Amino acid sequence: MNPTWVQHFIVLGTLLGAGDTSTDTADTWCYEDPKCGPETWAALGHCSGTRQSPINIVTPAAVHNPHLGAVSLAGYGDAGKLISMENTGKTVYVHLADGLHLSAQGLPATYTAKSFHLHWGQGAARPGSEHFINHKGFSMELHIVHTKNNLSTTDALKDPEGIAVLAFFLQATAHARPSPSWDSFTQHLKKVALKGEDTDLEGSFSLRELLGSVDLARYYRYQGSLTTPNCDEVVVWTVFPDPILVPPDVVTAFPSILNSTDSDSGPRLQNNYRPLQSLGDRQVEASVALRVAPSSSSTPRPAALIPLLISIAAITWHL
Ligand SMILES: *[C@@H]1O[C@H](CO)[C@@H](O)[C@H](O)[C@H]1NC(C)=O
Ligand SMILES: [Zn+2]
Repeated sequence: MNPTWVQHFIVLGTLLGAGDTSTDTADTWCYEDPKCGPETWAALGHCSGTRQSPINIVTPAAVHNPHLGAVSLAGYGDAGKLISMENTGKTVYVHLADGLHLSAQGLPATYTAKSFHLHWGQGAARPGSEHFINHKGFSMELHIVHTKNNLSTTDALKDPEGIAVLAFFLQATAHARPSPSWDSFTQHLKKVALKGEDTDLEGSFSLRELLGSVDLARYYRYQGSLTTPNCDEVVVWTVFPDPILVPPDVVTAFPSILNSTDSDSGPRLQNNYRPLQSLGDRQVEASVALRVAPSSSSTPRPAALIPLLISIAAITWHL
């Protein structure tokens, strides 16, 4: 193991499995085997808490918050910030260099991006996203993990808003434009086919290129948890409902190339998503831009004028 690999393992181990015992929680849970799958996680850490993730976002029930403008991302266009890609056996993890900063109204501080990873299913035919929008899943989900004021992950886990995750959906569609950056990403997957392997990214693509044309003003916000044990309830979630459209072969590449162990005979690394958790008494907020449908024109529709006409009529009546 080279020092960089050890460092990655410590960071990931801390994020995914910081626990109150010295045993490595990262090896005691899994996705697909009933003996260690999500149904058994309730016994681990905070996984049976009341602000768990992921959730199904029911858009008509979201409360519009007039303060939620577009999120601001600094440094995300810099390809040099993507250091290395690693197969952890649970996901594919990209380690980020210093200097990617997230700020937005409604966030209590500036957050620094530390890493990103993905969740997926078994290919394009079955959704593998963690969050759902109006009971609909997407092909995959990308999570960019940030800590508040550049806290270490250990310290971030002690603050109820210590971590901010930006969640982007990927949707496979035959009509998607070819994406050189996602093609490059999937080419690199071949170098991390086995658990524990990592590879340098050498500026091959930037995070901003991977995000494509997703509108950073349109998002939902809620307070939740990590979606892996110990499910710490320290995450401010920002979920963008408009998916990144990718060709189906991008989605197929993940489960067909990656293995969840250090053996190339499998099992495959697939269906690495946690099932939906209940919202409970939490409220999901919608950003300002979500008041407007993406394709609507600027002229008000006649139906929208009716309340206005009624109030004018009412005022006139009282006069
Ligand atoms: C953020 O934290 C990392 C890791 O602890 C450290 O290497 C880096 O210098 C910090 N960045 C700033 C701007 O303080
Ligand atoms: Zn995740």
